[in-house]
Amino acid sequence: MQAEKFREKLLAWHAGNDRPLPWKGEKNPYFIWLSEIILQQTRVEQGLPYFERFKENYPTVHDLAAAPADGVMKLWEGLGYYSRARNLHATAKNIAENMNGIFPATHAEILKLKGVGPYTAAAIASFAYDLPHAVVDGNVYRVLSRTFGIATPIDTTPGKKEFAALAEECLDKTQPGVYNQAIMDFGATHCTPKSPNCQSCPMQEDCTALQENKVEILPVKSKKLTKRERFFYYFVIKSGDRVLVRRRGAGDIWQGLYEFPLLESDRAIENKSAIEGSEILQDLIAPEDYAVLRISKSYKRVLTHQKISIRFWEIEVEKFKSGYEDKGFRAVSRAELAGLAFPRTIDLYLSDKSLTLELF
Ligand code: ADE
Repeated sequence: MQAEKFREKLLAWHAGNDRPLPWKGEKNPYFIWLSEIILQQTRVEQGLPYFERFKENYPTVHDLAAAPADGVMKLWEGLGYYSRARNLHATAKNIAENMNGIFPATHAEILKLKGVGPYTAAAIASFAYDLPHAVVDGNVYRVLSRTFGIATPIDTTPGKKEFAALAEECLDKTQPGVYNQAIMDFGATHCTPKSPNCQSCPMQEDCTALQENKVEILPVKSKKLTKRERFFYYFVIKSGDRVLVRRRGAGDIWQGLYEFPLLESDRAIENKSAIEGSEILQDLIAPEDYAVLRISKSYKRVLTHQKISIRFWEIEVEKFKSGYEDKGFRAVSRAELAGLAFPRTIDLYLSDKSLTLELF
């Protein structure tokens, strides 16, 4: 396939299959940046309501910069990959305080923003300023490797170079924003990872992968991702209307989000008395004053590099053992709980109505 032919077919496809997305045609770089940060590692359907909520709550970069950190985290709750929210907030402050609230307008300057990588910088530069930078992400690797029949592994330096060069060659430099949106949409809705729509594909006759029966094996990766397994046991320790929570620290997943007292292990703990006798639990409850009300099912959470199994132990005490504040815990009421941002699995657990009723 020729780059020029690919470009023409892609744009023709996009003209007939335009997904109505709220950031299409948007020229405000702040809104474009917001949408692109939300869409990193997030599907469009999931990200859409978050984009609307952020726009509504923080209509300008100054509003976002002035927002309390907990408010931003709360609005982000459920989207995952929370470093995106922290970087979003830090960048908004940087733009408001150091750039007079004016979003940078060159690719190099956009790339310097915290949380903005080459993909996001190319998206913002092309959408907001019509600058000729091609986006390269998982969708683009898939579309290009298939249509052009390229088997160079995408997670190697030569692979990255080869695909970046091809992406630039294919880019329509007269309308880079439209082209970038077209290839994103084509990868996301048509040339999908599983069961791509080859039967009705405009590239059919020219797609090397289809001709050579390689659709399933492209793109190629050199390494297989191995996931680390983790086992979390959360103690939902309740006294009256209050439970103990703590904010997660730096250096691990879910930084800045709240959680219950946690016992973590790299294997499942089958022995219940080992869990009851754990140091963290003994630090927080007195041996003569507690009752285990129930143990939840195991919730599974799969992240890019790890697989987490989570169980909640619901424990009732007459009163919390003194000294929990020194260990970073707070005793919060049910009403306060609703205002805190939790990892998605804890939210899921809390929103289980029957369980919430039983608990509080
Ligand atoms: N993923 C990342 N950016 C996107 C966009 N602008 N449209 C659709 N999906 C995307």
